[in-house]
Order: sequence, then C-alpha cells, then structure tokens
Amino acid sequence: MTPTHTEQTVKQVGVVGSGIMGSGIAQVCVQAGYRVVIHDIDTAGLKQSYAKIIANLEKWCHKHDQAEQMDVFTNNLIAGAALTDLQDTDIVIEAVTERLEVKQSLFCALENVVRENAILASNTSGLSVTEIASACTRPQRVVGTHFFNPAPVMPLVEVIQGEKTDDDTINRVVTFIERLNKKPIKVKDVSGFVVNRIITPMLNEAMHTLEAGIASREDIDEAIKLSMRHPMGPLALSDYIGLDTLLYFMESAYQETGKESLKPSHLLKKMVAEGHLGVKTGKGFYEYYK
Ligand code: CAA
Repeated sequence: MTPTHTEQTVKQVGVVGSGIMGSGIAQVCVQAGYRVVIHDIDTAGLKQSYAKIIANLEKWCHKHDQAEQMDVFTNNLIAGAALTDLQDTDIVIEAVTERLEVKQSLFCALENVVRENAILASNTSGLSVTEIASACTRPQRVVGTHFFNPAPVMPLVEVIQGEKTDDDTINRVVTFIERLNKKPIKVKDVSGFVVNRIITPMLNEAMHTLEAGIASREDIDEAIKLSMRHPMGPLALSDYIGLDTLLYFMESAYQETGKESLKPSHLLKKMVAEGHLGVKTGKGFYEYYK
C-alpha cells in the first residue's frame, strides 16, 4: 500500500546555506538523530561550517558524557558540494541570503533535484513565504521554518503557512520541529511573523533613545536586561542579529505596513552605510574583538 503523505516521516534533512543560521540548524538536526546534508555554493565556507558543527557536537558529547554518540553524529553529517547531493532529503531548509529572487531561484532548482513530496522550508525572517512559493511548481510543499539565533540554544521555531501551503505539509513540519525538541508555533504569512513583528519596534525605539541622548548605550541595555530579564539588551541584540538584516527587514516592513514604529532610525541607516553591521563586522553599537 502506498503511504499517504501524512504517514511519511522525515528521515533525511537538507540544509542550504552554511552561515550562522544554516550551521546552527544543521547541528540541531544532527543532534536530534537525523542524517543531514549541508550544502553551500561557497565551498570554503561549507568546509569551515562543517568543522564548526563537528566542534560544537564534540563539545555537546563531552558535556553530556556521551562520547560514543560522536561517531553517529559524524556519520550523519555530510557536507554536500553539489545541490544534487540533496536528492534523497525529505525536507530542505534554506538559510541563504535574505533576498527574494535568490530564494526563489534556489527553490526552483531544488524542485528539479528532490522528490515530489519533499518539503521546501525557508528560514526567512522577513520575506513572504507566499511570494517565495509563487516561483515554484509545487507551492503546496513550501513552508516557512523560522529558527532563532543561536539555533542550538533557542527553543522556538515559527512555522509559516503560505497561501498555498497545504495542511499536510504544515502537519509534517510541526511533527519534525517537535522531534528537534523545539517548540513550533503556527503563524500566518504576515510581515515579521510574530517575533520580529513584536521585537523590532522595541529595537528601533532603543536606537531612537540612544540617538536622542536619553541614556548611554550601556544604560539602555542594562535597563531592559534588569527590568525585563532579557538575556541581552536591545542594542547588543541588534548587533547580534546584524544591523543590515534589521534595516532590510524594517524598510520592507515599513513600506508594507506604514507603521511609524518600523521606520528605521537615522542612526541605523548611518551605521549600515558606514559598514558597521554589528558582531559580524566587529563594530556596531559595541566593538567586538575576535
Ligand atoms: N551556537 C551554539 N551554542 C551556543 C552559541 C552558538 N552560537 N552561543 C552560545 N551557545 C551556548 C553555549 O555553548 C552555552 O552552552 P552550555 O550552557 O551548554 O555551555 C550557552 O549557549 C550559553 O552561552 P554562553 O555562556 O557563552 O553565553 P550566555 O549565557 O551569555 O548566552 C546567548 C549567550 C545564548 C546568545 C544569550 O545571550 C541569549 O540568549 N541572547 C539572546 C539571543 C536572542 O535573543 N536571539 C534571538 C535573536 S532574533 C532572531 O534570531 C530572529 C531574527 O529573525 C532576526
């Protein structure tokens, strides 16, 4: 008997993009027992990411006194230099550049590589899943899975249903996310989903507060850490997310919604124009030394 879609479980995972998010997501999937193929067109970046994931997994095995797990993890993590290495995967999660046309052309290429019922998931933090899927021949299999940085630590994943994503895909993804020991929440395909929709105005307001000279960067961050028990203050968190990523999201969300709370501060625009993008460039609201 041919199994129905809902009976089909995920066995093998593909991750495209070996940056911070892709590497973190791949690590989470390997730790949950999946066989994972991670792919990137940048082969040097892929090599570095593979080494980083292996080092993190070794650290995990050491910390949890499970040295014997390391062989399993190593066998289950494959660095695939070609897109065709993803052909046997049941779900592919992309974490590539946050540009609509890049994600659309990747998904079109993937549709020719993976099986017909494989799920194509985007880790987009701000683009419309419906628009990404509009370039695909099987939009019912396209979904958003929005992880948070650092993915191995943060327990939440937003699961975004595009206009044409079918319920079977959503159900399979929710089950998969639960098997990663993460908490999935189902979210409509709206600008910022739930989390970015709520936190971005706060980050923006912190920048306005600094720009207006109301308090120092340290005091603004301490104020929120100590009053709200947030692990990071809003300016440090903005650096951690990446100021270019934030600006890109705010500009498109402001254009879409017209909400003043999403209109990027002059300070943010100036810093991005000067190339100060936060942790990744060594300078944002704070300085970072490797
Ligand atoms: N990858 C894997 N593990 C990591 C990690 C990473 N990049 N960074 C930290 N960790 C782990 C550490 O290994 C450590 O694990 P153990 O306890 O098992 O040793 C643990 O996290 C704590 O790390 P540290 O002791 O080094 O540092 P910390 O206690 O200051 O925590 C932090 C660091 C987890 C990043 C914490 O500051 C935090 O939670 N910050 C808030 C992060 C946040 O808000 N993320 C969401 C950003 S928004 C987003 O991602 C969405 C978007 O669309 C923009």
